[in-house]
Amino acid sequence: MPPSFPNGFLWGTATAAHQVEGNNVNNDWWAFEHDPARGVREPSGDACDQYHRFRDDIELVADLGLRVYRLSIEWSRIEPVEGEFSVAVLDHYRRVLDTCHQHAVLPCVTFHHFTTPRWATDDGGWEQPAIVDRFTRFCERTVAHLGDLIAIANTINEPNIVSLMGWLVGAFPPGRHDLGLYATVNEHLKAAHVRAYETLKAGPGDFPAGSAIAMGDWWIEPGPDSDETLTRTRDMHERQHLEAARAGDFVGVQAYSRTRLSAAGLPLGPEPGRRVVESMGYEFWPDALEVAVRYAAEVTGLPVIVTENGIGTHDDAERIEYTTGALRGLARCIADGVDVRGYFHWSLLDNFEWALGYEPTFGLVAVDRTTQARTPKPSARWLGDLARANAVP
Ligand code: BGC
Repeated sequence: MPPSFPNGFLWGTATAAHQVEGNNVNNDWWAFEHDPARGVREPSGDACDQYHRFRDDIELVADLGLRVYRLSIEWSRIEPVEGEFSVAVLDHYRRVLDTCHQHAVLPCVTFHHFTTPRWATDDGGWEQPAIVDRFTRFCERTVAHLGDLIAIANTINEPNIVSLMGWLVGAFPPGRHDLGLYATVNEHLKAAHVRAYETLKAGPGDFPAGSAIAMGDWWIEPGPDSDETLTRTRDMHERQHLEAARAGDFVGVQAYSRTRLSAAGLPLGPEPGRRVVESMGYEFWPDALEVAVRYAAEVTGLPVIVTENGIGTHDDAERIEYTTGALRGLARCIADGVDVRGYFHWSLLDNFEWALGYEPTFGLVAVDRTTQARTPKPSARWLGDLARANAVP
């Protein structure tokens, strides 16, 4: 099989603290998922107990033949009360990162993956400008402790989903529907990314850092307004955050599906008759990755890392089919000269899929939630083999 990816291309997999660690009781998500009025399917509970089982999981990543493990550190554990930092928790994450290096796995560390400490959200959270200084201080203190062990850093995971789901759709904390606040929150998220990037680069260690933006393929119903709707939609959901991401050494692209809108910009849902990823309610659309990578590269002018891509399915053969399609699109981008440095599959483990609980299963590895036993699926071995070959069939 001829290599479709450049030498040194980084193959990896990803998780996020709240989705796998378990018992992150001190953040806004824990509060949200325990409020029956919010409609979260089930609480995160012990999740995959990765806080205690990280050694097993890192060993798994290494055994599969993947070189990067993207994980996030939990702000609400590190700074449980404003200005009070836990050295014991920071040391825990040093052990996590050390374990990665012992297994020749490069740790990609995300500083904010959807969760914010309760002390910050009780005091206005992302709606107030103070969050920018607060997040910067957290980054400064944390990189001082961990920077020498970081291989790649992500500042904020999907700032555009934080604002969209939290302040427009209302399915993530704080569960609002407020266009004005949505715009304010976006400004704070963009500013926080830029300050975090500068702070991480000024700390110890020498690693590339960047943002990770949720992207997709937009289909707009043909009509006199469709071009304008496409531009407006992309500006609002993607472009403003991609422009902020220019403060970065790379741009992280995360893509899963496509979204169909009427010419006026209203959501249409999946095209009738099209295959749907049942657990997520969106279309099976591997081509989203190619579209997203090209657009992110064009807007930012930066190298791209695919920091997430995957599928929440109970049919593991479908995971392989989806990922093959997505990687073929990625190989086309590379063949056309787009500078793509890596691909991190979401996710290593079946884990807590936010408002949808444990129903969607994105993992390369199944997790028995009673015994916490991990069982690699055929797709895990398949991706490991593909990584070794550095080529997609
Ligand atoms: C998020 C992950 C999530 C995944 C699958 C991304 O939006 O960063 O936390 O689990 O998509 O839905």
